[in-house]
Amino acid sequence: MQIPADKGLDHTFQLLTEGYCFLHNRFDKYNSEIIETTLLGKKMICMVGRDAVELFYDSSRFTRIGAIPKRVQKTLFGENGIQTMEGKQHSALKHLFLSMMSEEGLQYIHKLTVEQWNAQASKWNKGERIILFDEAEEVLCRVACIWAGVPLKECEVSKRAYDLGALIDALGGVGPRYQEGRKARKRTEDWIKNILSEFRNGQFKSVGKAIEKIATYKDANGKLLDLQSAAVELINVLRPIVAVARFVVFSALALHDHPEYEDKLSNATDSELEMFAQEVRRYYPFAPFLGAKARTDFEWKGYSFHEGDTVLIDLYGTNHDPTIWQSPNEFKPERFIDEKIDLYNFVPQGGGDPARGHRCPGEGLTLSIMKATLSFLVNDLDYVVVKDQDLSINFVRMPTLPASRMVLEIR
Ligand code: HEM
Repeated sequence: MQIPADKGLDHTFQLLTEGYCFLHNRFDKYNSEIIETTLLGKKMICMVGRDAVELFYDSSRFTRIGAIPKRVQKTLFGENGIQTMEGKQHSALKHLFLSMMSEEGLQYIHKLTVEQWNAQASKWNKGERIILFDEAEEVLCRVACIWAGVPLKECEVSKRAYDLGALIDALGGVGPRYQEGRKARKRTEDWIKNILSEFRNGQFKSVGKAIEKIATYKDANGKLLDLQSAAVELINVLRPIVAVARFVVFSALALHDHPEYEDKLSNATDSELEMFAQEVRRYYPFAPFLGAKARTDFEWKGYSFHEGDTVLIDLYGTNHDPTIWQSPNEFKPERFIDEKIDLYNFVPQGGGDPARGHRCPGEGLTLSIMKATLSFLVNDLDYVVVKDQDLSINFVRMPTLPASRMVLEIR
């Protein structure tokens, strides 16, 4: 069967002007879960939905090698990190990441998040206006460093938080936003290489923490990671913890748009908080899509794939796929009571088994941070959402946020 092909020579410009809706617009137009388009002069097969996610995460059919653009490695991920690894090298390092996500580790980050929000709030005065996103990046930068055992002086917090945030913000950026991401990567790697050298020289200890695990990790050949690689992986812990600031802002926006949850969530059970956090991760746009390359020729649902084909899987689209979700464009945390999630149908942080593929190892940490923050927002912080601000979400910008980054007035 022929994969419906997007008409025209190249659609890079449309990707930049349609953002999160680019893939959806084409699945809609051709009424298909699979379409072919051209981006940066290269043919791409784009897919959406549960079956497509299952296919994408079949590592006998797809590889990540050669699929992650250099510009993403030079900003967001770092070069030659776990995201680009395969086979034994990948599974050994992935095991290390997953070993950080014990129940104890999740409880610890919950406690740190509560402590750090309360410490931050103690600096705010009644009547003061704060920008929630900026505050959240700082709070989560402190949380990330303490959790990972990375020493951080108070005077450094805002610049480190800014740089970790700039790595994330560079994702779909061209021009100045991308350049800012490159500079932030250089500064962050220099900082973390220094810290790792001090750790390896015995200048401080962080027993059982991420820095110790990464600094002492030996690869399949019994070799320690070189300083640069160790820095890339330690940043792979710090940066995404700071990225949760985006879900914090979306949580506050969801509370604002659905005020009935303010009451429902005050003194809510853990599972009620979790349903709300899950719906925030499903409903709001963050990670748009992922890419991989076909390892061999094969057929799927009658469509032919050829070795070397590049495939994009629409994560945001799968989280809004009406064949998976009832009323996907409604914000309804209770859906998680009935709608059963499996490894392939709910993919805000990727799909499949995290131990066997590239799915994010940090979903438990993300939920812990979100639940601690939600409880802080509904139970501990007295605030109003400032009226004269622009809370609209620009779906063209990737990654996106409410335009005003959520201004709150403290009461
Ligand atoms: C991978 C999203 C939080 C660590 C990923 C992937 C996505 C993602 C989409 C790619 C999955 C794939 O390639 O199949 C997010 C989002 C987060 C988040 C939206 C929250 C805002 C975290 C946290 C950690 C983390 C808290 C903490 C350690 C990683 C690592 C990988 C990864 C190390 C690479 C895994 C691999 O290649 O095997 N994440 N993540 N992430 N994430 Fe997260």
